[in-house]
Amino acid sequence: MYPLLFRTVLSRLDPEFAHHLGALVIRVAGVEPVASVVRRATAPGPDQSVQALGLTFDSPFGVAAGFDKNVTMGRGLGALGFGHVEVGTVTALPQPGNPKPRLFRLIADRAVINRMGFNNDGAAAAAARLRRLRRARRRPVIGVNIGKSRVVAVEDATTDYVRSARLLAPLADYLVVNVSSPNTPGLRGLQAVETLRPLLTAVRDAAGRTPLLVKIAPDLDDDEVRDIARLAVDAGLAGLIATNTTISRSGLTTDAAAVAAAGAGGLSGAPLKERATEVLRLVREVVPAEFVVISAGGVETASDVRERLAAGATLVQGYTAFLYRGPLWARQINRGLSHTR
Ligand SMILES: Cc1cc2nc3c(=O)[nH]c(=O)nc-3n(C[C@H](O)[C@H](O)[C@H](O)COP(=O)(O)O)c2cc1C
Repeated sequence: MYPLLFRTVLSRLDPEFAHHLGALVIRVAGVEPVASVVRRATAPGPDQSVQALGLTFDSPFGVAAGFDKNVTMGRGLGALGFGHVEVGTVTALPQPGNPKPRLFRLIADRAVINRMGFNNDGAAAAAARLRRLRRARRRPVIGVNIGKSRVVAVEDATTDYVRSARLLAPLADYLVVNVSSPNTPGLRGLQAVETLRPLLTAVRDAAGRTPLLVKIAPDLDDDEVRDIARLAVDAGLAGLIATNTTISRSGLTTDAAAVAAAGAGGLSGAPLKERATEVLRLVREVVPAEFVVISAGGVETASDVRERLAAGATLVQGYTAFLYRGPLWARQINRGLSHTR
């Protein structure tokens, strides 16, 4: 049903407009009594629950950051079967993001390129919505992903992250420092160990008892991945998320001119699968068993989720395949996992 709808209608709509339409449907799915009906069809089985970060996740599979940037879809995404939702990236200051168009489908590759640029309503608005969401009778685990405000200089990044952390950590089940999006100038440079150490230490102190994770790019080389993983353990973080989108364009089947026409931005979806799995393995090799590793990048099916769990992921996230597979995606994955566990 959804593949047909996608082929005939949705793929012709502007991708960002299609996302807003989808968001409306998801919000409705989170409102009672619709939510209870939806949940009956989508709820993960009891065998799928995962204990991590001192929390219970109903499913190991969750929504990666960037899908619910403004904390408006938490209940709906939970009703659709996701065990957690990582909201954001939230920045201390509200900001419009990059000019449109900034989201492009590469259908032949089951991928997208985005240069959204952290469009979001800012930390204060996110905090107000998180307070409401926490009062909901049922909700998934909510992670909050924070990033640097664009107008803040890279040298002042720590103060900016700490400002968001102070406001949002008390309202988050876990907090994520995002230093890996390609669409904020200078952001990925914060992944250099000598810059990252003081940043992570300061945010960890500001986060208090809320578990803190760091999210990394797939474009780091293998030694950098290992160094950051060791640093995250040393700095007392609870975990790491691998990976964000890639700036690479290699191995695509989409016509090169169409890829070039999309322009700069992060590539996500199926082409990211191999490197995301490699980075997961590299991280898992150097961190202790209790350290949480969340794998993201190119996950499409239950068998992909199973593969990541087998490679050492504690939890798994996805975004791009949601755009291609539609609202019942988490249900399909949960069902697939139930049959095989
Ligand atoms: C349109 C779009 C926006 C994104 N925005 C963010 C973001 O704000 N913060 C972030 O940490 N990751 C963001 N991501 C990256 C995803 O969270 C995820 O790490 C990446 O897309 C790989 O997973 P996927 O292949 O399942 O999409 C975004 C991805 C997409 C496609």
